[in-house]
Amino acid sequence: MKISVCGKGGRGKSTIVSLLASGAQARGYHVLVVDSDESNSGLFRILGFDQPPTPLMELVGGKKKVKRKMTRDFSSGESETVMTIIMQDTIVVDDIPAGYMRERDNLRLVCIGKILQSLEGCACPMGVLSREFLKRLSLKEDELVIVDMEAGVEHFGRGVETSVDSVLIVVEPPFESLEVGEKIHSLAAGIGIKNVWAVLNKVPSEEIARRLEEELDERNIDVIGCIHLDPEVFKSSIEGGVLGKGRAAGEVRDVLDSMLSKASRQPSS
Ligand SMILES: Nc1ncnc2c1ncn2[C@@H]1O[C@H](COP(=O)(O)OP(=O)(O)OP(=O)(O)O)[C@@H](O)[C@H]1O
Ligand SMILES: [Mg+2]
Repeated sequence: MKISVCGKGGRGKSTIVSLLASGAQARGYHVLVVDSDESNSGLFRILGFDQPPTPLMELVGGKKKVKRKMTRDFSSGESETVMTIIMQDTIVVDDIPAGYMRERDNLRLVCIGKILQSLEGCACPMGVLSREFLKRLSLKEDELVIVDMEAGVEHFGRGVETSVDSVLIVVEPPFESLEVGEKIHSLAAGIGIKNVWAVLNKVPSEEIARRLEEELDERNIDVIGCIHLDPEVFKSSIEGGVLGKGRAAGEVRDVLDSMLSKASRQPSS
């Protein structure tokens, strides 16, 4: 199962990715986290690694090379797919070279690429690489991929989600978060993703949870769970260190169980 975690900036995507990863590990899965956010670089830390992996973008020759290949494909009228970025048709997790992956127990982390300098150009090559990597990545029964997506909706324009089977939209009380959630929902449904769910995050009270659920229900968005505002999460974001204790961790674990059980009931296409 490949799960993409999306939503507006700052809603809690990386936090939820990290808690889903430890929940899935506890359930016996081998988890590969894919850092597909080209702007923020702190995911490795909240997953408990002391160094980030070398970005996969470097493995394929760097952003300039990917961009040249994209331009050639467009101008020659060939398909937009960048078939030669990763030469293999199928990638298994063990194919990823050491250094491009951080690993602890049954948790692994890869990173697509980061924008590091001003004026270095757009992040389109990262989107293409994310899409092609996820498309070729073949999973065993006990493997689970969780993608920490960049904020907003641009990744849908780049087709990054074309080969994920589940999209989890993180929604927080402010109204624009609902609007972005609605947009993501329709984009994900539009490319045929069967499992599209919203998860409420940083919820301060049951009343707010109920109101958010009503708003999402009016938009025909299925809410898979509710994660409360948790001082433990906030504390660890200041002090650093791995997330894993506290109310939110238990709630994310319930979300994971619901996702796994709903996805297993979907007829396979
Ligand atoms: N349930 C929660 N309770 C308390 N604080 C939370 C909760 N979820 C996330 N946070 C805090 O909210 C902030 C933003 O979270 P996070 O970085 O996970 O968001 P994000 O959506 O990944 O942001 P970005 O779009 O910048 O990547 C962090 O300080 C995090 O600790
Ligand atoms: Mg993030």
